Amino acid sequence: MCTTSPQSQSQTRQPTATPTIAESVDDIFQCPNCSCSLLAAPAQRLNTLPDSCPQCNNTFPRSEDFVDLTIQSGPILPEPLRLLRDLRTAPGRQTLFQLPMVSYAYERGWRKNFSMGGFPGADKEVDLLLDFAPNADLVLDMSCGSGIISRQLATRTPYRRVIAVDYSETMLREAASRARKDVRAPELDLLRADVSALPFKDSVFDVVHSSAALHCWPVVQDGLRELHRVLQPGGRFFATTFSREYPEIGFSALPFGDRLRRRIRDLRRLGARNPYRFFDREELVYLVRAAGFIDVDVTVDRAFAVIRCRKRGA
Ligand SMILES: C[S@@+](CC[C@H](N)C(=O)[O-])C[C@H]1O[C@@H](n2cnc3c(N)ncnc32)[C@H](O)[C@@H]1O
Ligand SMILES: [Zn+2]
Repeated sequence: MCTTSPQSQSQTRQPTATPTIAESVDDIFQCPNCSCSLLAAPAQRLNTLPDSCPQCNNTFPRSEDFVDLTIQSGPILPEPLRLLRDLRTAPGRQTLFQLPMVSYAYERGWRKNFSMGGFPGADKEVDLLLDFAPNADLVLDMSCGSGIISRQLATRTPYRRVIAVDYSETMLREAASRARKDVRAPELDLLRADVSALPFKDSVFDVVHSSAALHCWPVVQDGLRELHRVLQPGGRFFATTFSREYPEIGFSALPFGDRLRRRIRDLRRLGARNPYRFFDREELVYLVRAAGFIDVDVTVDRAFAVIRCRKRGA
């Protein structure tokens, strides 16, 4: 039975006079399946979350690296079988990052290639976020990948607490291992969750950040609506993604010979599709407004698209 009723859909988190870090995260979780409240013991971080939902019995597997708050349909499969199931059923833009090889390569070169499209790099991207949202208590880093930005959010910003979330187990393990090695960020909170079914109550985060990720989500509209739901009234949402320019910019920057270039173009003409979804500026403005955000500002510089907006309210 769900002993604590979920916060009402419109209720907001009341700021305490001097919130401790533990108090500020203690009562923010809910079951992603049935919205039953999930309480973690104060000051003991995420590993005191219950192993299963008291209402729907959805299980929440955990390891020393992260707690899994996804919806488990049916019995819990071993990780290789979970991956196989996703590879068969989920779109490539999500499953690509579940592959161990891709997670391994991500911070060892893959992410640097984004500069071809105009991404300025993690340090400058965090500076842009800080210009837009200089202070915050609780921050969500959605689709954190290997934690390249999360570690900076946890260490070089005035943000009090950062929860980093991704769907890929291999990415989360990479993030945990890198955070442990970073003496400044050993206790980054890592959660597995799907952006379309977030395990958080309504209106809990002051800032939501999501870098280089919208183009990877299976259904971007669902993800944006969920991020809007979990943001405090007046809270800020900052995201980066690739514009429609990227396939051409990226393709022409790769060191391919003419013959290989022609082959790839032929394959494209035959219908080979890029796994990602790329956006133009107007489309991003439309999607973000449709999710409920206001004061929407979208800039596109080459293929680097930046979204700045907020949730209506205080
Ligand atoms: C290109 S990486 C971005 C990582 C990091 N934020 C950065 O700036 O480099 C995109 C991430 O989106 C995650 N992702 C894809 N589908 C997702 C979903 N349904 N829910 C949550 N994260 C998802 C992937 O696992 C991957 O780690
Ligand atoms: Zn439940």
